[in-house]
Amino acid sequence: MSIERVSTGIAGLDKFLNGGYPKNSVILVAGGPGSGKTTFAMQYIYHGAKLKEPGVYISFEQEPEQLKNSMKQFGMDFDELEREQKVIILRIKRVEDIKEVLKIIESNVKKINAKRLVIDSLGSLEVLALTFKSMMEEIPLQLRVGKLPISPPKEAIIRKLMYNAIDYLKSLNVTTILTSEAINTEYSRYGIAEFIVDGIIKLEYQIVGKAMERNLSIIKMRETPIEGGRYGIEIGKKGLRIV
Ligand SMILES: Nc1ncnc2c1ncn2[C@@H]1O[C@H](COP(=O)(O)OP(=O)(O)OP(=O)(O)O)[C@@H](O)[C@H]1O
Ligand SMILES: [Mg+2]
Repeated sequence: MSIERVSTGIAGLDKFLNGGYPKNSVILVAGGPGSGKTTFAMQYIYHGAKLKEPGVYISFEQEPEQLKNSMKQFGMDFDELEREQKVIILRIKRVEDIKEVLKIIESNVKKINAKRLVIDSLGSLEVLALTFKSMMEEIPLQLRVGKLPISPPKEAIIRKLMYNAIDYLKSLNVTTILTSEAINTEYSRYGIAEFIVDGIIKLEYQIVGKAMERNLSIIKMRETPIEGGRYGIEIGKKGLRIV
């Protein structure tokens, strides 16, 4: 049986992925500041909505108005798609733990029967995994399981919370993009998420003379043969595309 694919919305990228992301997978889009993660992810939602695959965009860092405005320069009008209930763009602020975020995500996914989801960014989700409330829910459980009179390391708690969160996203039957600004490791803050997700796309740039050269690499994609290598990309009039 062939695997159902979800188109990326990035011109020129689907053909390197056998047609797109495997349906219901979770994809990490990793890159440094200004590498194009948000643009990549907004384009995924926009093109999905045009293909009658509704999408939910969760932002921790930017207001929906700002996101929508910056996409207008690329000819993407999200206001109309929101009115037609094909897109929800939501900023999450002041939540106490991961479970609360997942509940908000679920209710919005169900509201428009979304097939696509973006969480911008994974880093914000990981920070929530370390809140007092999240930790307290996990520690007693871990102690019972291991019967150890000591606290488990922070990493073990994050791994478990992230694993549960990703499993939960899959149960919603959406194909998800998590943006990630790597800090201590190459792909995510704690070097954990990259092993749990189904795919990794890396966005990079170099300054060459007076120009900025951008590129994209497909690092991992389960159920998909990938060639490897870096593809040149450009952020131009129509947004991000492979050149
Ligand atoms: N009209 C445009 N034409 C060309 N490049 C643009 C245009 N608008 C924005 N850009 C480029 O896109 C980059 C921003 O992309 P984006 O916000 O998607 O990156 P990001 O990786 O999400 O950044 P952050 O780390 O801040 O979250 C800018 O740094 C800018 O160089
Ligand atoms: Mg961003």
